[in-house]
Amino acid sequence: MRIDVVSIFPEFLAPLSLSLIGKATETGLLDFAVHDLREHATDRHRTVDDTPTGGGAGMVMRPDVWGAALDSLLEGTQEPVAAPRVVLVVPTPSGDTFTQRVAEDLAQADHLIFACGRYEGIDSRVAAHYRETGVEVREMSIGDYVLNGGEVASIVMIEAIARLLPGVIGNPESLVEESHGAAGLLEYPVYTRPNDWQGKEVPEVLLSGHHAKIARWRRDQAFAKTIARRPDMIEAMPPENLNKADRALLQEAGWRRQSDGRYLRPTEPPTQG
Ligand code: ADE
Repeated sequence: MRIDVVSIFPEFLAPLSLSLIGKATETGLLDFAVHDLREHATDRHRTVDDTPTGGGAGMVMRPDVWGAALDSLLEGTQEPVAAPRVVLVVPTPSGDTFTQRVAEDLAQADHLIFACGRYEGIDSRVAAHYRETGVEVREMSIGDYVLNGGEVASIVMIEAIARLLPGVIGNPESLVEESHGAAGLLEYPVYTRPNDWQGKEVPEVLLSGHHAKIARWRRDQAFAKTIARRPDMIEAMPPENLNKADRALLQEAGWRRQSDGRYLRPTEPPTQG
């Protein structure tokens, strides 16, 4: 996979040259490059922004500078010969939410281009223009909070995507049971030695060597943790992912089974006024 990032602060992306992603770049699993947007500015001051048309606070990034930067990266990629999948990712707090499902989808692409906006964002015509010319454009938010620019959001997304590429993670089994994985549950609690630390002992079942019992215990723990912390994930769960014990637990906790087999969390009792 090829990943390009365009930013006015290329150094911001330096953490991606460390650890597993850095190694993947070194070994050629990943073709990763960062580009300075200012190289596409045309004036002496290398200006990339201007005041918002119609008034208002802050500055907006110019479409002509972004257009030149993105055209230079898209050049040649639109050839229908091999039909590579190119995705232009624009991090913005007003985008669709970036989730593990989105990471899995983007990990299938051939080429990702991250356009990191700063200030009040990139002139809206940029995303519209590339969409109209047939580029897959994904405006993505990493959560309901506002960062100073798209760089940190790009780091988050690139790490989540790149670790899914074959060969990036040494033991691909570690991708199987993690939080937000295919089971739709949070991860079960994990332990290592020493077995007794600060008077707290590792759960006995984990020392039993009984693989089936351990698997069942972990699944029950993951389910209980998800009910407590992320009831929305339980509500979204396809009924076929629920086993008999899960259904009994939900029923006992006052969850209501819907006609489609999904469960709804118990309604809060009215607060006494
Ligand atoms: N840029 C600023 N805030 C952001 C967010 N929450 N997600 C993605 N990009 C952003």
